[in-house]
Amino acid sequence: MASKGICDRVAIVGMGCTRFGEHWDRSAADLLVDAAQEAYASAGVEADQVDAYWLGTMGSGISGLTAAEPLKIQYKPVTRLENMCATGSEAIRNAAYAVASGAYDLVVAMGVEKLKDSGYSGLVGNAPPGDGTESGMTAPANFSLLAPAYAEKYGVELETLRDVLSKIAYKNHYNGARNQKAQFQREVPLDVINASPKVAGMLGIMDCSGVSDGAAAAVICRAEDAHKYNAKPIFIKALSFVAGPAEGAKRQDYDFTTFPEVVASAKDAYEQAGIEDPREQISMAEVHDCFTPTELVLMEDLGFSPRGKAWQDTLDGRFDLKGAQPVNPDGGLKSFGHPIGASGLRMMYEMWLQLRGEAGERQIDSPKLGLTHNLGGGPGRAVSFVSVVGL
Ligand code: COA
Repeated sequence: MASKGICDRVAIVGMGCTRFGEHWDRSAADLLVDAAQEAYASAGVEADQVDAYWLGTMGSGISGLTAAEPLKIQYKPVTRLENMCATGSEAIRNAAYAVASGAYDLVVAMGVEKLKDSGYSGLVGNAPPGDGTESGMTAPANFSLLAPAYAEKYGVELETLRDVLSKIAYKNHYNGARNQKAQFQREVPLDVINASPKVAGMLGIMDCSGVSDGAAAAVICRAEDAHKYNAKPIFIKALSFVAGPAEGAKRQDYDFTTFPEVVASAKDAYEQAGIEDPREQISMAEVHDCFTPTELVLMEDLGFSPRGKAWQDTLDGRFDLKGAQPVNPDGGLKSFGHPIGASGLRMMYEMWLQLRGEAGERQIDSPKLGLTHNLGGGPGRAVSFVSVVGL
């Protein structure tokens, strides 16, 4: 697979993000307005200057009117899109390509999801019933398959693997405790994580991402215009998206220790950005830690750890805030929360803060390149997005 990419042709010049969590007194429209206004202000632009909008939401509205009405958009293109949990990243990708094409000068990508009022949970399947031919597993059950598969393939004792998963949850809650926009802003001791009520397989509540409401937005323009809007823009080096053939439930020999979709999108993104050694060249990453074993497997699929070694790297602290390659410095889906359509933009928001030196207590020392990884679906049936951004 080879995409030509748009390395250094497009910039992000402003971003906004609401706090994620329980917003019983805010509608999806309110959250979108909050995120968009913060993004406009950070880019120093008025709404009138924006040429077109891309809105990602899985279920908090249909059509461009979901954004056009609350933002009072005056007869401009607003595209609503959805690509499962990678929806927010798709908004960025489509908006960035539209700018790169020359069709528009200044655009906004945004994402929103309001989950709490709907009663959405990882424990119940609240989608409409299908035709009976698809497996009806919950998200935690689906992702729980990664853990025993990994333990068996790499000969890791289940007790040790439990320590690894708990370390991932501990790390992401530690980071989220340093983030005023995160859903869960408390450190969680390892013994509490280990004892959290079981949800599926090895996974307890503390292995799961939060169910949240939230919105985030980005203002995007061509690279040559970026300094007109912002003294410190960030530049897109790569954007890759792939959909897999969804063979997991159909093949007896399916390997649940890897997401081939992630491997393909990472390879494509690294080629676009000219990255040969992601372990050394990527300074930090926001990855799709919907459940703790997902983050473990992603470290290998993204090339941050050799195959079968991510569990050791995790225990050694490589991905800690002060580690060699910090992962999920903002708390990740685990602690920042996961309002589906907004998550991809929230990941980019942390890259925006970190690259510009604005991450406060969480600031990573002189990051050069950041990666965001957003997954939709589950093991064996996924879509995957990878971006690389830098100064
Ligand atoms: N991580 C940490 N703490 C959590 C949490 C999570 N994922 N979910 C809830 N809590 C905390 C709440 O803050 C609350 O704490 P408090 O009593 O101190 O206020 C307590 O646990 C109970 O909250 P509640 O909302 O009643 O929990 P719940 O049992 O309804 O939900 C899960 C727990 C695990 C079922 C829910 O978080 C979940 O479904 N997560 C996965 C979401 C998902 O599948 N997303 C798709 C990913 S692909």
